Amino acid sequence: MSQKQNTFFIGKVLHHCHELHSTNEFALDLIAKNNPIEGTVVTADFQTAGRGQLNNSWESAAGQNLLISIILFPHFLTPKHQFILNQVVSLGLNDCVGQFVSKKVTIKWSNDCYIENKKVAGVLIQNSLTSKMIQSSVIGIGLNVNQQLFTSNAPNPTSFSLEMNQQFELANIRDTLCYFIEKWYLKLKAGHRDLIQKKYIESLYLYQKNTLYRDTNGVVFNGVVQGVDDIGRLLIQTNQGLKRYSFKEVQFLHG
Ligand code: BTN
Repeated sequence: MSQKQNTFFIGKVLHHCHELHSTNEFALDLIAKNNPIEGTVVTADFQTAGRGQLNNSWESAAGQNLLISIILFPHFLTPKHQFILNQVVSLGLNDCVGQFVSKKVTIKWSNDCYIENKKVAGVLIQNSLTSKMIQSSVIGIGLNVNQQLFTSNAPNPTSFSLEMNQQFELANIRDTLCYFIEKWYLKLKAGHRDLIQKKYIESLYLYQKNTLYRDTNGVVFNGVVQGVDDIGRLLIQTNQGLKRYSFKEVQFLHG
């Protein structure tokens, strides 16, 4: 079991609320009105309007899971390079999950966290951009910890508790997550972009495995994930050569 991890800045300021519409929304509001310091964290026991990718909602039973938003100011990143922030967060999330769950943990492109073939966490990053840089970034993460029954139509949900048959202390998981996200964010700041790209690609769900995909025209095809490009498109080797897919242009038929 993981020990309390110390961070330099992520989580030094923590807003914990019993109930919120959405931790991301609260964090965006803090940025707009309160001049928060970098690394400010917002958590909630329950969200009445938790936001997922593509306008989906995020299911989370009260007090069971980690619902967290982290405020960052990555001014050193240009809008063109914003995908690397997704990679940093995914790597931190994977490291955190790996501390508590003794099963294979991977990143399902673009930034879902999978335990074997089930989704344990989702990430919603909301960036505010200028023409030259990322002005602010809200890193929203929903990590399923103690919930055992899922009622929404989210595909393949799982939790730490379902995988490990025990209950976990949320504060410990929150601190561990902050520690690992900070670790990878500091690597990014120090210029280790090649390492981040390599580690992200190696951690991809079904990396280099032959599997079935469906494209937006409904065509099912065989392919092998080879990696991602700089703007986060998935590279799949198919019988017709190497293809690039943007978010939601391709669906994994396995998992
Ligand atoms: C996904 O659809 O996979 C992304 C889900 C992200 C959910 C988290 S929960 C904490 C934060 N606040 C939100 O409203 N959404 C994110």
